[in-house]
Amino acid sequence: MCIMEIISKTSDLQARISAYRKEGKQIGLVPTMGALHDGHLALVRRCVAENGCCVVSVFVNPTQFNDKNDLLHYPRTPEADCALLEKAGCHIVFMPSVEEMYPQEDTRVFNLGAVAEVMEGKYRPGHFNGVAQIVSKLFAAVTPDRAYFGEKDFQQIAVIREMNRQLKFPTEIIACPIVREADGMALSSRNRRLTPEQRKNAVNISQTLFKSLTFAEQHSVAETIAFVTESLNRIPEMRVEYYEIVDGNTLQPIASWSDADYIVGCITVYCGEVRLIDNVAYRK
Ligand code: PAJ
Repeated sequence: MCIMEIISKTSDLQARISAYRKEGKQIGLVPTMGALHDGHLALVRRCVAENGCCVVSVFVNPTQFNDKNDLLHYPRTPEADCALLEKAGCHIVFMPSVEEMYPQEDTRVFNLGAVAEVMEGKYRPGHFNGVAQIVSKLFAAVTPDRAYFGEKDFQQIAVIREMNRQLKFPTEIIACPIVREADGMALSSRNRRLTPEQRKNAVNISQTLFKSLTFAEQHSVAETIAFVTESLNRIPEMRVEYYEIVDGNTLQPIASWSDADYIVGCITVYCGEVRLIDNVAYRK
């Protein structure tokens, strides 16, 4: 196994990446905000398998938090992250400071079109603009051949594909399946903020989504949305912010099952104070 390097300056990162390139290695990037779990590590393992050099960025990006409280409570576990990344075969961990990534305020406003306006775009104004700001900076610094993202953040992938297309990065965007706990709950850094009682209740999110796949066979889109929303709102401390069933390519809501070939249901639920997201494909 190679010795993993931990780098905090962009210039050092670029020097190391040039050296890998001179050896003929391809560069893969996994952007993260740390507090790593098996969902992140699945992306890292795939990146290691497909590239001669795997770069993982660990940076809690302030510009994508529209809720200051969320940023304040975001878990930070840099030592544990590095230990996990080394075991997964990562070559370079990029852990910059906020000043390093934003030496001055980033005033860029992206126009990411319809994919960024629905769902998370509606409920977290500015969020995707912040994601586009940081991911475009990371792409510019790393110039990856491939970048890996999880389908857990289904809409984020569509937004990044759009940003990538507009800015003409040569990077291939690779979408990786959601990694779940044994009981079906999607892994998330935010899960560690749940009390044991909330964690027990939160399993209903994925279980209700899975049940809705069968429900949908005999019911309309509107009935399926109502089924998921009402089932979850009955559980203590749970409040569905939205459940939308969308065309998996355009992210626009569909009215009937015949409206799209690729259909995904995207949910956001508050469990106490913790905002959780998940999704399920009705048709791939
Ligand atoms: P973060 O939430 O740390 O997630 C980093 C990557 O891991 C994302 O692509 C996310 O979709 C993926 N991921 C998280 N949980 C997963 C799971 N259970 N299964 C599969 N993949 C999972 O997403 C971000 O950070 C940020 O917005 C970022 C892209 C790094 C920009 O700041």
